[in-house]
Amino acid sequence: MLKSFSLLTAILSLTLCGCRAAGPDKSFSSYDVQAKELLARMTLDEKIGQMIQADNGWLRDPDDVKKYYLGSVLSGGSSDPAAGNSLQAWTAMYEDFQKRAMETRLGIPLLYGIDAVHGNNNVLGAVIFPHNIGLGCTRNPKLVEEAARVTAEEVRACGIQWTFAPCVTVPQDERWGRTYEGFSEDPKLVSLLGGPAVRGFQGSDLTAPSAVLACAKHYVGDGGTRMGTGKWNRGLDQGDMRVSEETLRTIHLPPYRAAIEANVATIMPSYSSWNGLKCSANKYLLTDVLKGELGFEGFVISDYNAIRQLDPDFKKAVAISINAGIDMAMEPNEFASFFTNLKELVQEGAVPMSRIDDAVTRILRVKFAMGLMAPGYSYKPDPALVQAFGSAEHRKVARQAVRESMVLLKNEGKLLPLSKSLARIHVGGRAADNIGMQCGGWTIDWQGKSGNVTTGGTTLLEAVKKSVSANTKVTSSIDGSGAQGADVGIIVIGEDPYAEGVGDRSDLHLSKVDVQAVENFKKAGVPVVVILYSGRPLIIEDILPNADAIVAAWLPGTEGQGITDILFGDFKPTGKLSFSWPRTMAQIPINIGDANYDPLFAYGFGLTWN
Ligand code: GLC
Repeated sequence: MLKSFSLLTAILSLTLCGCRAAGPDKSFSSYDVQAKELLARMTLDEKIGQMIQADNGWLRDPDDVKKYYLGSVLSGGSSDPAAGNSLQAWTAMYEDFQKRAMETRLGIPLLYGIDAVHGNNNVLGAVIFPHNIGLGCTRNPKLVEEAARVTAEEVRACGIQWTFAPCVTVPQDERWGRTYEGFSEDPKLVSLLGGPAVRGFQGSDLTAPSAVLACAKHYVGDGGTRMGTGKWNRGLDQGDMRVSEETLRTIHLPPYRAAIEANVATIMPSYSSWNGLKCSANKYLLTDVLKGELGFEGFVISDYNAIRQLDPDFKKAVAISINAGIDMAMEPNEFASFFTNLKELVQEGAVPMSRIDDAVTRILRVKFAMGLMAPGYSYKPDPALVQAFGSAEHRKVARQAVRESMVLLKNEGKLLPLSKSLARIHVGGRAADNIGMQCGGWTIDWQGKSGNVTTGGTTLLEAVKKSVSANTKVTSSIDGSGAQGADVGIIVIGEDPYAEGVGDRSDLHLSKVDVQAVENFKKAGVPVVVILYSGRPLIIEDILPNADAIVAAWLPGTEGQGITDILFGDFKPTGKLSFSWPRTMAQIPINIGDANYDPLFAYGFGLTWN
């Protein structure tokens, strides 16, 4: 609680702001009175500190939180507690930083940020949801909001109150490693789902124990870059989008309008560039458009070390980014240098104090809206949330999301749905019993990890065993050996986990091992159901003739029974493609609305049965 924050001011400001919580109908500017009252009490050091977010992994001395008056700490992709990834370890780490922040002169609590992008995917035992590409195929805003709400509850179960999600990118080129973080290639669908995701995370009352600040990212056009312009001049990630302003506004900007409409608290600029200028340096985009034209009232958080990319001279880079409109700097390891440089820049007049005051006011408004400065504020997680962490109720929501994200691409001879009382089912493929491939990137580790070492969950093989009758024999082998004589073969293939630019690929053909496994099943003379785990549409011409049925399962997460719910007919498939499915590499990039549009499966395609 703020030591010097007078009770009278508290009562006054609660009265003035009408003390209704922030939600879709409450703007952050309503907290100006309280924020400006506190701002007036702050030293330059305390103001600059609020504008800095350091990474847990680089805070060698946790008391640097106090020394630099840090407004925020994050855990980047693999920046985990030293004590491991249990809920208890994450909670203890968060509380230690928060306690130190509240020991400063003004005792302003910090915001702790993580990438909870498909569940609280940092913590062992959390429910892992389908990545956004799968949620896009549900076309179900209510379900997407519910998934975000459950994620928020499992994030707040360890106390943390900020996620760098939803990613509202509009990926245009499937070769990009972040395609799966996007709901769709269609900005209308991304907007339809991005707003509810924000509402799911933030809820209708930001002071609620389950509320988590959302972060719409990566602003703007991260999914529109040109091949070969990526980081180190290869690939797509962090590349250059070379389009007209009309295209930027038609394709890439709409989801931010939806996020702001939903009262999103934070927005993250993209590493990428627009016509040669880095988004993190673009004052027109960050200030004139985002804060001016679109009326964004939260605060802008830079991406991980993105400021360093703006100029070889770090001090110049700091000036460029803050003057362009960045309010908080995600400076995982260079937080001390950032602090010193920004202080010098303000003292030299290169960064006006008005810009500092605007940035700090924006940050403080969000903190007031969350109730961080309310009398009696406690950072302890609500015991009910701890109790519900990883619960059956939460898994039920994720299982529904898996079910509704399944897209049936082929069903020769109405092979699906399968009977639950077949004599024998042979299950195979690299991904059949592999929770790491089932979850994909951003799962426990930044890049994810193939195998069953990541986190608990139900693999497809386990789901099949749970679904069938006691008389059904389930056998398995990765390469399909032993399938002969089975009534049906179910083979799960696809992509190994990856995140960000690591997933940039110039060739999206299936691996030879996967193609061979499907052939082995076919040679065994059994009907073949192919389940595809992938972060994007892949080139599947090599398996098409051998697969009797094909289901695009995307990166479904821990609840594999959502897939067997469809395979065995408990539910009909309702998923519709949120991305166009190319025939060949030569067609990529391919998007709905293109001239000569001739995909293998069109945007919106998806089979079902009566
Ligand atoms: C990463 C990503 C961003 C993420 C941030 C923090 O580089 O670009 O999406 O939120 O760093 O992990």
